[in-house]
Amino acid sequence: MTSVNFCKIAHLFNFLEMFAFGLSMTKSRSFIFCSKGKFRNVLMIGEGTGRFAKDFQHYYPHSKIVILEPSEKMRLEISKSLETDSKNVKVLETRLENFKPSMQFDLICTCFFWDCFNTKQIDEFEVNFKHLCNSTRLWYNVDFYEPRIVGNLRSLSNITIIRFLYGFFQKFAHLDTCKLNSITHLFCQNGFSLVKQRVLLFPSIKSQLFKRTSS
Ligand SMILES: C[S@@+](CC[C@H](N)C(=O)[O-])C[C@H]1O[C@@H](n2cnc3c(N)ncnc32)[C@H](O)[C@@H]1O
Repeated sequence: MTSVNFCKIAHLFNFLEMFAFGLSMTKSRSFIFCSKGKFRNVLMIGEGTGRFAKDFQHYYPHSKIVILEPSEKMRLEISKSLETDSKNVKVLETRLENFKPSMQFDLICTCFFWDCFNTKQIDEFEVNFKHLCNSTRLWYNVDFYEPRIVGNLRSLSNITIIRFLYGFFQKFAHLDTCKLNSITHLFCQNGFSLVKQRVLLFPSIKSQLFKRTSS
């Protein structure tokens, strides 16, 4: 359904992230690590180079992690970051739209994933998204958000960097989006409530933990 492909930039991904945002994205992803919960089975969708999974393993060494990562080159990066042959990590080539969960997860993580897709593409994920919502009790989501332009230098540079980044990804990873879509409403429609969040103003990133409160 989508031609998003991160293979061309997989080897540069960590460098580009550091170059553009320093440690801000790493810090945003790490917001979950203050949670005391026991996450036995965790699903990570579009994990990229495996940085987050590696840090996650450090904080929750007993978690069993399933990673969905369709890009071959990204999977290669993952295998450099963590022991993918360990019994606690399983890396699947499967795309979200083809993934049929056969087990319950304690936590699903999507970091900088949804912003790869436009509204129409996100709508096409709907059926699988619903299945996944029923297979977890917690969902951790980290994404850039569209800053409100209030005319100050910070918000202007914020939006310029994000537009530049997405222009770059459009060219090299075939992203078909140039505007960031908030998907908070999708979680709410599927019975989740926001239980914790951290909002960075620059760069504009939200780290949000949702809990399923109704089915
Ligand atoms: C912007 S990168 C984010 C990587 C990482 N999660 C992070 O925090 O940096 C998006 C990732 O999603 C993967 N991806 C793209 N389409 C996907 C799909 N349909 N299902 C699962 N993963 C996908 C890409 O290969 C890429 O590694």
